[in-house]
Amino acid sequence: MKKVLIVYSTSEGQTRKIAHYIAQLIADQHFEADLLDASTPWDDSLSDYDGAILGGSIHLGRHGADLTRFVEQHVDDLGQLPTAFYSVSLSAAGVRSQRDDAKRVMNDFFARVDWEPDWSECIAGAVKYRKYNWLKRLLMKTVVYFAGGDTDTSHDHEYTDWEQIDSFTLRFKQRVRFAEQPSRIASPPQSC
Ligand SMILES: Cc1cc2nc3c(=O)[nH]c(=O)nc-3n(C[C@H](O)[C@H](O)[C@H](O)COP(=O)(O)O)c2cc1C
Repeated sequence: MKKVLIVYSTSEGQTRKIAHYIAQLIADQHFEADLLDASTPWDDSLSDYDGAILGGSIHLGRHGADLTRFVEQHVDDLGQLPTAFYSVSLSAAGVRSQRDDAKRVMNDFFARVDWEPDWSECIAGAVKYRKYNWLKRLLMKTVVYFAGGDTDTSHDHEYTDWEQIDSFTLRFKQRVRFAEQPSRIASPPQSC
């Protein structure tokens, strides 16, 4: 049985929702998945695991401090495992220039923590107007208006492409299954 750890950093819950979806896709007769919120202190080593997926959302041009702490604390273990990273943002749902922005923030994160996963993807998140306080709702409505998105604040808007998550997860399972023969898995290092 192969064991995969999925670590997520979230503010409004979309990255957690994606992590749970990935965990369901991972679990089968050959794989099991553990989920960890990056804000939960976790001192164990990753030596029990055959692979790790890390995910985090972008807020104000950065990934979360909890994810930074997790990677810094476990960087040596992560270097020994097949790894993938997904970055969740609104920029990833946008036009080319916005997607370039999502990619830049993700690469800034990798540079800051001095770690690179085997591959990474930018994934469109959600606007959760119903979860924001009035100030955040106003701020996000303005940002989304200028980005050409949905400004109806009476409900939330999800942009996540679940088929993208399906292929991201399938590719990761193949990577773990053939960990000794990485050349069998043709994957671009980054997709944004
Ligand atoms: C206060 C705030 C700031 C945000 N800043 C950015 C940003 O700088 N770039 C971006 O692409 N998306 C930004 N977003 C959008 C989030 O990345 C998006 O809502 C994502 O789905 C959040 O994921 P989470 O629910 O897992 O935290 C921001 C959202 C909020 C509420």
